[in-house]
Order: sequence, then C-alpha cells, then structure tokens
Amino acid sequence: MDTSQIYSFSFPTDVRFGAGAVKELSAYLKSHNLSAPLIATDANVADLDFFKSIIENLKHANLNPTIFSEIHPNPVKSDVTLGIERYEAASCDSIIGIGGGAGMDVARAIALGANNKRDLFDYDDLIGGDKYVTEPIPHFITIPTTAGTGSEVGRSAIISEDETKKKRILFHPTLLAKMVFADPELTYELPAKITAATGMDALTHNMEAYLAKGFNPLCDGIALEGIRLIKASLETATNKPDEDSRAKMLIGSLMGAIAFQKGLGIVHSLAHPLSSLVDMHHGLANAISISKGLEFNIPGQEQKFSKIAQAMDLKDQSPTGVINALNELRSAVNIPDNLGSQGLTKEHIEELSDLAIKDFCHPSNPIGVKREDFKRIYESLI
Ligand SMILES: [Fe+2]
Repeated sequence: MDTSQIYSFSFPTDVRFGAGAVKELSAYLKSHNLSAPLIATDANVADLDFFKSIIENLKHANLNPTIFSEIHPNPVKSDVTLGIERYEAASCDSIIGIGGGAGMDVARAIALGANNKRDLFDYDDLIGGDKYVTEPIPHFITIPTTAGTGSEVGRSAIISEDETKKKRILFHPTLLAKMVFADPELTYELPAKITAATGMDALTHNMEAYLAKGFNPLCDGIALEGIRLIKASLETATNKPDEDSRAKMLIGSLMGAIAFQKGLGIVHSLAHPLSSLVDMHHGLANAISISKGLEFNIPGQEQKFSKIAQAMDLKDQSPTGVINALNELRSAVNIPDNLGSQGLTKEHIEELSDLAIKDFCHPSNPIGVKREDFKRIYESLI
C-alpha cells in the first residue's frame, strides 16, 4: 500500500443468487415497467429447455421478448450490429444477456450501441473510447448459464474484429448489469467438458486477480474465498455434479469477476491469442496455460502463493505445491496439459507471442512480461 494515495473501491452490482432465482425475472421486469426485452444468447443456449422455459414464463406474464442468438463463439462486431438492428426493429426497451461469456458480451455491446451511434470500435477502451459513451444504456440484465467468465458482474465486453479476429475491449462503468440473476439450476445440465473449462477460467480469474499488482484488499479477500470455493467444488461439479458443487462454482466464478476489476495477468495474455488464432475455448486456453503462467509469477510472490495454498487447503503450502495442485486438478477434470493436443505446432509460436505481448491483461501481472517470456512459455506448452 502507498500511504500517500487515496484509493477507490466499488462493488455496485445487485445480485439475486440461488436455485430458482431466474423465476423472479418477469416480476422484476414488470416492477421496472419493462415489457419488451431483447434476449441475447448463443444458439446452443437458445436450444436448451431452461431457456425455452424462461421465454415461456415471460410470454405467460404478457411480456414480449425478442430472441437474438446468431452470434459466434468468439463474438465479432457484425454480431453486435445485427443485434442492435433486432433491438430497434422490435422496439425493445431492455436487454437481457443469457449465457456464457459470448452471450453476455454481445448483450453488453448491444446495450452500449443501442443509443451510442458511433462505430462500435470507436468505444474501444484502449484508445480512450469510453469518453464517447454519452447516451443512456438501456436497462441491462445478465443471467449466467456457465460458472466461468463471471461476465454477469463485469462492465466490459470483448468483441473481435470480423476480419482480423483481433480482440477489442469495450468498457464503461454504465455497462454494469442493473441486476444479475445467478441461478445454479441453469448450470445443472452443463456438460462435463464445459464445466471443467469454464471452471478453470473462473479459478484463473481469482488467482490472477489475487496476484495482480495494485492495492485492493477487498478484491484480494474475495479472490481467496473464490479460490477456496472453486478448489472445493470443481472436480465434483465436473465428474459427479450435485446442487452444492454447482452453487459453489457459480458464486465462485461471480466472485472471480468481481475480483478481477483489480486486473488479470500473464495467463490470460497467454490464453487470448489461442482463441484469436485457432478459436480455442477461452477456459480451455486458460486451463492449459495456468500452471506455466503462474510458475513465472513465483519469484517475489512466495507469501501470496502460500495464502493461495491455504485457500486451496493444500498440505504442501509452497509455490510448487500450488503448481502441483493445479496440475492435479486439471488432470482430474480431464483437461490436457499441452497445446499440441489442440493442434498447435511450433509454427504458431511467433504469431502467438506477437499477439500475447500486445494483450491488455499482462500489464497488471505482478512481474513484467517480455515477448521472449511468452515465446518460452508457448514453446514449453507445445
Ligand atoms: Fe477469463
């Protein structure tokens, strides 16, 4: 802590958490005089029974939802443009993002662009685009269906350029959801593979947030408890899911995303290029990268690793104990430990390293990362 500084802390999202919480949606909309929500989701979620049941409940309550589900797994700008067209065509009065990261990110970007009419990437946070967000954001609600991204409590959306697939980050404080309905029941049917990958993403958020530079003891406390909850439940949620493990994973992932307002780090910068270049699932990319990425962070962070080890309830509370436990957890949830398994070869390394060094996450890493560090880590993973 720098005692000459004045710090800001902000935890403003309203959350309704618990099995069955989503059943409150119709009453919530009515209480806010909203009747025509645009429901942004992905095609997989749109096909699931719980999604159909949410839509039925809204219609039953005489509400008029418009479904928009034509989005890419790693969403691109044209997805958002199409969503805004649907929002306008149906005279919607609110936006609900239902899904994993993709559905909620597209929903948030539609919320941004509904009334702010510049080119979407003019609002890119990295070029100071947040200053152009001057028009009101429609009433925005999020409903997570995976325990992973934590995007439900975020205030940014990651949208890629259509042609280059370069990820752009749209950020504004007003992009926070007005309400989150976090209902573990929506995750009960999540396949093991998705549970594992998204869960490892959530674990990475908590760990990277805790290790990130900067003074934010509120986020640190949340991140350590998030680590504890996820370590205690990910294996069960993946291999033998029950209500308790699903609930712990959902709240643990939500906590990870609250904590990472502090920043993320090297693991996410290793992972993002893998999604950009070969469309790898974000959680899977983090799961494969987490051990090597965190190993890089050990020097000077030994005390923090010991706190992580305590949160994970490990016998060996050394940094190596944490890395070993991560490898064991990844193996227990059937995720491979190398990128070769995903079709990556030595030929990809230079381009991956170019993208990683330009990524927006590693500046908050506790140790500065150079291009050659990324290159060395990618080489060790292939
Ligand atoms: Fe992530």
